[in-house]
Amino acid sequence: MVKWGIGLVMLGLAAGAAMAQTPAQIVQERREGLRRAGAAMEAIQQNVQGRGDPQAIVPRVAEVQEFFSKDFSSRFHAGTQQGAPGLETRALPAIWSDFASFQRAEQVAIAALAALRDAAASGDRAATATAFQAAGQACGNCHRPFRAPAR
Ligand code: HEC
Repeated sequence: MVKWGIGLVMLGLAAGAAMAQTPAQIVQERREGLRRAGAAMEAIQQNVQGRGDPQAIVPRVAEVQEFFSKDFSSRFHAGTQQGAPGLETRALPAIWSDFASFQRAEQVAIAALAALRDAAASGDRAATATAFQAAGQACGNCHRPFRAPAR
């Protein structure tokens, strides 16, 4: 009983914290996270193209992996699409009209990042390069239908 009570209080606090965020804050947070992911992927690409030590990139891959694995799609609250008043976002309305596909693209990216991490950790350069390409494609496969082109 006591445990349940604590659980419910924590659930209430978590819901309260999530609701306390304005749409603009939600958008800002997800964009900051995505920018960090983009910077990490660029650093990883430099390593791959420069034939660096694959094991050196494991922490960067882990960083990107963690960002997407932490319920990435839940950052796309209803009402935070491009065109909503006062929001600077490239999130297309297609995300909400086909959320199942959006979440599938999320899962594919998470799997591709896990494979990239494994390849890098193994120290195998060729496998890392192949896995990096696949991860990059997984990013693009979500961006094409769900992210508006940069203006
Ligand atoms: C499941 C869909 C999905 C996946 C997978 C995905 N993205 Fe994105 N990404 C988006 C959406 C949607 C936006 C637009 C967000 C916004 O403007 O609110 C975006 C925006 C971005 C931005 C621009 C951030 C800004 O506003 O400055 C970068 C950089 C980015 N993504 C990098 C990546 C990288 C790197 C990967 C792969 C490791 C990736 N994304 C995978 C959906 C995805």
